[in-house]
Amino acid sequence: MKNLFLSAFLCICALPAFAVIEGNNILISTPNTSMLLNGKQGEVLRFAYYGDKVEPGMINSIKGGQLSLNDEAYPVFGVNAENEPALQVTHADGNMSLDLIIESISQSAVTNAELTKIVLKDKVYPFVVTLNYKAYKNSDVIECWSEFTNNEKKAVTLYKFASAFLPVRLDDIWLSHLNGAWASEAYLTEEALSPGIKILSNRDGVRNTLGGNPSFMLSLDGKPSEGTGRVIGGALAYSGNYKIMFDISNRSRLKVFAGINEDASQYILEPKETFTTPELALTYSKEGKGGVSRSFHDYARNGKLHNGLNNRDILLNSWEGVYFNVNQEGMDQMMKDFSAMGGELFVMDDGWFGDKYPRDNDKSSLGDWVIAKKKLPQGVEGLLASAKKYGIKFGIWIEPEMCNSVSELYEKHPDWIIRQNNREPQMGRGGTQLVLDLSNPKVQDFVFGVVDGLMTNYPDLYYIKWDANMTLANYGSNYLPMNKQSHLYIEFHKGLRNVLERIRAKYPKLVMQACASGGGRANYGLLPYFEEFWGSDNTDALQRMQIQWGESQFYPANAIASHVSANKNHQTQREVPLKLRFDVAMTGRLGMEIQPKDMTEADKIFAKNAIATYKSIRPVIQQGDQYRLVSPYEKQPFSSLMYVSKDKSRAVFFSYKLEHFVNQYIPRLKMNGLNPDKMYKVTEINVELGRDNAPGRSRNRINNQVVSGKQLMNEGIEVSFGGQYSSVVFELNAQ
Ligand code: GLA
Repeated sequence: MKNLFLSAFLCICALPAFAVIEGNNILISTPNTSMLLNGKQGEVLRFAYYGDKVEPGMINSIKGGQLSLNDEAYPVFGVNAENEPALQVTHADGNMSLDLIIESISQSAVTNAELTKIVLKDKVYPFVVTLNYKAYKNSDVIECWSEFTNNEKKAVTLYKFASAFLPVRLDDIWLSHLNGAWASEAYLTEEALSPGIKILSNRDGVRNTLGGNPSFMLSLDGKPSEGTGRVIGGALAYSGNYKIMFDISNRSRLKVFAGINEDASQYILEPKETFTTPELALTYSKEGKGGVSRSFHDYARNGKLHNGLNNRDILLNSWEGVYFNVNQEGMDQMMKDFSAMGGELFVMDDGWFGDKYPRDNDKSSLGDWVIAKKKLPQGVEGLLASAKKYGIKFGIWIEPEMCNSVSELYEKHPDWIIRQNNREPQMGRGGTQLVLDLSNPKVQDFVFGVVDGLMTNYPDLYYIKWDANMTLANYGSNYLPMNKQSHLYIEFHKGLRNVLERIRAKYPKLVMQACASGGGRANYGLLPYFEEFWGSDNTDALQRMQIQWGESQFYPANAIASHVSANKNHQTQREVPLKLRFDVAMTGRLGMEIQPKDMTEADKIFAKNAIATYKSIRPVIQQGDQYRLVSPYEKQPFSSLMYVSKDKSRAVFFSYKLEHFVNQYIPRLKMNGLNPDKMYKVTEINVELGRDNAPGRSRNRINNQVVSGKQLMNEGIEVSFGGQYSSVVFELNAQ
């Protein structure tokens, strides 16, 4: 054992110093942050520090300056029974206790990161806990997760199994998190943490971000600020039920536990089996919430979002335009009109499938992924031919984890459904929807086959919108044994991941969107397999401002699908100008979800110009740094945000007027993220059309002026808006 530790120690010394082990110090660092753990073989692992970067020579200063916490790094239930544990198990003999000491520490270089593994072993039972810390070199994220290996002779049951535990010195700590519901996802909520326990959790079983999100920020210096103060960010890379707990039960600590929600999910770990928890991505910034968000955006684009460094196409989705009424002529017309506006990709949404039971509404056909011949006599080939004719790409909607009781799939495989066999199942959408049992490998093969079949038959398919519109009701699996029914929530998501792994191994270039009743799947458990997620079924520009502001806390612009839709808006019935609808959708991955033939000629011209404009600023929005300036939650008459290219040579500034009064006072809006020493030419873009649909003229005096970055940030600019719901967008180019 000693040798193991020694050899690990030696191999570390040969590595470049991102992680350093000296004496009992284990220092894990990213470019701007560090985590310090303490412990040697035979000792209890202790957590000392997480925050600003610490060079190895400064470790004594951390300790001397009383920044070292000296808490247990991963508290377990047993010997210590009074505090909340990260891990609680029952051994085969009924004993419920754990007492862990360090067995070995090792480090290895992995792609773009360094992985530190600390193996802990129980003093009495051959039960092993491995804590993993993966420190990235291309973003300020340390991923933390744990693994449990049962080397006992019989099964051990896991009752609590957090991915990670983080103690934080107690102060005026504020929690920022997302919450909401269908059509109002990702609303940002901020609150001072007070004594007691606060839990963010989900138990939908399928969609874990329709309401909340498995992510959080902790502002350590009082009320959260966008630009200043120390902030810790956390995001759990999991698509299933989660639980993030903030425990202030003593006067000096906030204790954070994050992992799978263990409710109704106790896990029976067989001898020799290892259980791996999802990663908690932790980041830290002293540039406020904005700093934490930019760090998550880099983390996503540099590896945690599929093809994260690619810019996304501008698409038209058929849903709000025609709903279930798809047919060859209609799709052809939409493609033609969209192509004429400069669009790049057309996505046929729901309504295209079902042979015996054609999908005319939401009451049937999920599971029967064959073309509805009456609607689309020329098949997918006909649609691909239309797309080719108009020079755009083509994509298709599926909901492959689901089934309707009115479907051929249900008739063939009633045992593939999640249900309790001795009860009538409760149905979901359309009164007939049910969830497939992804714990069953045969079901996994089927779901993989849905995508594989489409791609084999139609290799020119460019894009798939993958939906999931039901909660995991009727909890019960025909596949899992009776003593392991409590594994279903977890096995469903393991199954989903297996399927997605197989799809990505075979189709790495296929573009996929994660949708789940709107924004129900915005999480880092799934984003490694998807290019983007659908932000919300609510496409109202005003509500989208708040939803996307929330989503942008943790996810980058090129992951947030955001569409311009009809006036009146179908969800809120609100009417706002087309310009505002574009100016909001352009802050994410721009798309449209509208019937083009219902648009006026002027609207089509405006849309065509806006699409051309977006193409030119797309790299700044999708790959640049985001700075949120005035929050739409602050109940001010306007809100604002901007994007700056990594080299600070280009920027795009968005501002929106939310209320309108005569002689209204509008303060100067201060920009951020620019190079103070550079001069920027400020040009208003996306201006309303002028007379006879000619290009409009800016009403802003700053238009075409050259101003220093320093002045734009310190003094701000005066924005001259039009009437209610008007918006102004400036492009900035360094001279
Ligand atoms: C869900 C999605 C929508 C649309 C419909 C189709 O509600 O969120 O975008 O695809 O399903 O039925």
